[in-house]
Amino acid sequence: MIAVASDHGGLDLKNAIVVSLQEQQIECVDLGTDGTASVDYPDFAEKVAKMVASGTAKAGILICGTGIGMSISANKIPGIRAALVHDEFTARMAAEHNAANILVLGGRVLSADQGVRLVDVWLTSRYEGGRHQQRLDKIAALE
Ligand code: RB5
Repeated sequence: MIAVASDHGGLDLKNAIVVSLQEQQIECVDLGTDGTASVDYPDFAEKVAKMVASGTAKAGILICGTGIGMSISANKIPGIRAALVHDEFTARMAAEHNAANILVLGGRVLSADQGVRLVDVWLTSRYEGGRHQQRLDKIAALE
């Protein structure tokens, strides 16, 4: 199951991603936000990151206006590797090299079509392991 959330700046892209996941019959949970009222992105990053870190969700997707606040917040939770991506190359690398367990997008940076496409690229790319594992181990040691 994939946990998805946004603030008001990522609302439209979040809704488009949830629809896309549902159309593909990929199990997901929408943790908000549900309206255009201004909210604080760390509250939503915390919900998704804790679900992923605990194993309740296998992965997460977070969207704010730029993606910056969500990525800073989510990466405070031990075990989280949240990657802010902007194009297909970085979306693929986030999976293949970084084993990112949360994908972060900027709702004011990407169109809905672009954002949905980056989710698909990330979900269909696989972690390569090998030389990358020692780097992930070093990241874990930093915690
Ligand atoms: C909210 O206005 C905005 O600051 C937020 O969506 C995000 O871009 C923060 O990094």
